[in-house]
Amino acid sequence: MNAAIRAVVRRTLYAGAEPVGVRRGFAGLLAGEFQPLDAGSVADVIHRGGTLLLTGRSDEFRRPEGRALAVANARAAGLDALAVIGGDGSLRGAAELDEAGLPTVAIPATIDNDLPGTDLTIGFDTAVNSVVQAIDRIRDTATAHERTFVVEVMGRRSGFIALLSGLADGAESILVPEEPFDLADICDRLRRGYARGKRHSIIVVAEGAGSAFEVARSVQERSGLETRVIVLGHIQRGGSPTAGDRVLASRLGAAAVELLLAGRRAVLTGLRCDRVVPVPYGEVLAGVRAMDRDLYELAGILAI
Ligand code: F6P
Repeated sequence: MNAAIRAVVRRTLYAGAEPVGVRRGFAGLLAGEFQPLDAGSVADVIHRGGTLLLTGRSDEFRRPEGRALAVANARAAGLDALAVIGGDGSLRGAAELDEAGLPTVAIPATIDNDLPGTDLTIGFDTAVNSVVQAIDRIRDTATAHERTFVVEVMGRRSGFIALLSGLADGAESILVPEEPFDLADICDRLRRGYARGKRHSIIVVAEGAGSAFEVARSVQERSGLETRVIVLGHIQRGGSPTAGDRVLASRLGAAAVELLLAGRRAVLTGLRCDRVVPVPYGEVLAGVRAMDRDLYELAGILAI
């Protein structure tokens, strides 16, 4: 998100306009937490995770009076428009703010990669790479002790992180919320692997697919294989962003400013087939970002 903020600020300055940051997200908008920004305010942040502006949820913002106050505060601070960076909740908030009278453009950022209208969201590539690095390390113990590891990754409603990291790591099984799974089948797969000389196994479970501890208990009981659980948790949401994420954030942040300057509003800066395109909020909110079934099948084929 820092790389996106940097791009919004510097693209705004390039256009001769004045960038102002809103601290603590929608909560800060209600509290009037505005911060004038210049080119130097976003120096030395492109390689840092998180957000220099901080973020915050707000119950008050969910009510129409709260949103009216947010718009009034923005106007009083001299804001003409707002670039909102975030996932599903942020997008809904941006749409409501726009309806309440403040022009907004949304920049998709969530490690879950579950927003319709864009092939990629900021943070996803970094999260997947963090998971892959972690599993590479876990693999050393798994091999040395000939164990099965169940690795729980984030994704309450979406299996993208599990799918991509599981595929990149050659996991034996990948469990996602979008697809049913059969523990007997998973255990058969593990036994086949061991029968042909595999010394360890990795099962990647998206948190929304079920309890990693339950999966591990069941696998150990059914297969007799020594099993351990690792919950990667918020490790996936931090750390220095990958080059891919920095470039994506720079492109989407700059595009958001260009769209606002061109008079566009109520659109998401989507990435489609490597082109940045404006996607109307209505289309994004009505859509469903389906998990990539082809990749899911491929992961299964390659993990025989
Ligand atoms: O929406 C992104 C996400 O990372 C989910 O995958 C995860 O379940 C959730 O956020 C965790 O949110 P919190 O930090 O509020 O527990």
